[in-house]
Amino acid sequence: MRIHALLLGAISLTGATAASIPAPDPNGKYWLNTSSISLAFIPYGASITNLLLPDKHGNLLDIVAGYDNATAYTLDAAHPHFGSVPGRYANRIKNSTFSIFDEDGTETKYHVTPNENNGLNTLHGGPDGWDYRNFSVVAYTPSSSITFSIVDPDGKEGFPGEVVSYITYTVSNSTWDIKMVALATTKATPIMLSSHTYWNLDGFELDDALGHELYMPFAGMRVGVDGILIPTGEVLGNERGGINDFWSRPKKIGEAFGNDTKENGLEGNCGTGCTGYDNCYIHSLRPSPPSLSQSWRDPSQMVARLSSPHSGIKLEVYSDQDAFQMYSCNQQKGDVPLKWTQGTDTLRTIPKYGCVVLEVQDWIDGINHPEWGRTSKQVFKPGGDPYVLQARYVFGVDK
Ligand SMILES: *[C@@H]1O[C@H](CO)[C@@H](O)[C@H](O)[C@H]1NC(C)=O
Ligand SMILES: *[C@@H]1O[C@H](CO)[C@@H](O)[C@H](O)[C@H]1NC(C)=O
Ligand SMILES: *[C@@H]1O[C@H](CO)[C@@H](O)[C@H](O)[C@H]1NC(C)=O
Ligand SMILES: *[C@@H]1O[C@H](CO)[C@@H](O)[C@H](O)[C@H]1NC(C)=O
Ligand SMILES: *[C@@H]1O[C@H](CO)[C@@H](O)[C@H](O)[C@H]1NC(C)=O
Ligand SMILES: *[C@@H]1O[C@H](CO)[C@@H](O)[C@H](O)[C@H]1NC(C)=O
Repeated sequence: MRIHALLLGAISLTGATAASIPAPDPNGKYWLNTSSISLAFIPYGASITNLLLPDKHGNLLDIVAGYDNATAYTLDAAHPHFGSVPGRYANRIKNSTFSIFDEDGTETKYHVTPNENNGLNTLHGGPDGWDYRNFSVVAYTPSSSITFSIVDPDGKEGFPGEVVSYITYTVSNSTWDIKMVALATTKATPIMLSSHTYWNLDGFELDDALGHELYMPFAGMRVGVDGILIPTGEVLGNERGGINDFWSRPKKIGEAFGNDTKENGLEGNCGTGCTGYDNCYIHSLRPSPPSLSQSWRDPSQMVARLSSPHSGIKLEVYSDQDAFQMYSCNQQKGDVPLKWTQGTDTLRTIPKYGCVVLEVQDWIDGINHPEWGRTSKQVFKPGGDPYVLQARYVFGVDK
């Protein structure tokens, strides 16, 4: 708790105290507006709820999925993790178990609360993971930044030790910066966070997002998974020209969708019975030949670019994280309402394949694969280095 108090002290030095934090709008949203973009956030999951900017015709589009008000997020039982920070450990944990090894090699096994596949695994930190909770707003300056914090108690969802985390979003001009910091204050514990934003760069004006173009110039490999998307330990090469090749050239997400998805492997690519993408791409390896040892990415380089010819809007992602999940909204089935800022008179719900989720993160389930060498990036202990995630999203419009 002492470190927590020190950090709070450091933040209040910047001028914000609880008493002076401006109130949210009537929908519970905290806006950060520049002359180019407007973003809104809520304490529930420290989530982004809206992101508005003009398209190539000058029409204002809202390009992230979400709900009209903060309360609606807490009511949807399906909980799609719209725009949130999944924690304390994003993505799936095999069998909901992992081991932590202390300095002399002594193993402690942990079992965390399962919440997927009839109890076979844990997804996004469990049934009451971070993005089911309201973070505190510890600082808010409407023209530029907001900082959320959460104290995750020892034993919550089965995880060892207390974790204290700060999530800061900063905007300037056409840029959204994300900085996440987390500290293990009492015991060694796994930590892996992400930003789980659902993008539709057309503001949901079209029937799907399969016309969006994606380029991930360093995504030469991906984590191999089984039928329920649990990593098998295999690391696979993304063959040039194959369905998972988004590195050799920019490609429409829908390019491999057609009547030959069985043959081209897109059927089953996101788990048993699923056609599309829900894959953890790895940036730190050469595409060919596959190698676990060579790191070749300069962190200042762009790791992904998503663009839509329809609106002209493009998004460039820069990140210090070594992996990147891409999900093509395969599970959406037209039952989630769009916000009033989105869609058309006739399109009022999120369609299947209607969005693209891009998640900057580390190698998924790395805590169960010590052979990948991710331990120092995924297991944190009191007095050790903090967990840090940084990402920058830069928006633009091609006329
Ligand atoms: C920020 O932008 C949004 C969307 O354009 C607008 O609704 C809101 O009133 C703006 N807020 C402020 C404080 O300017
Ligand atoms: C979280 O915030 C929402 C929106 O203000 C509110 O409806 C909900 O009751 C809050 N939940 C908890 C557990 O405080
Ligand atoms: C928030 O959204 C929910 C779901 O659409 C709706 O039922 C509720 O009336 C809204 N609340 C407010 C205060 O607008
Ligand atoms: C799977 O989890 C159970 C606890 O529910 C545990 O007893 C078992 O050892 C775990 N299996 C593996 C292979 O870790
Ligand atoms: C951002 O906006 C400020 C103020 O409008 C301007 O001075 C600065 O040059 C802009 N920066 C970039 C990178 O466009
Ligand atoms: C679908 O199948 C037909 C007949 O085999 C073929 O001509 C066509 O190119 C296929 N289309 C796609 C998108 O794969």
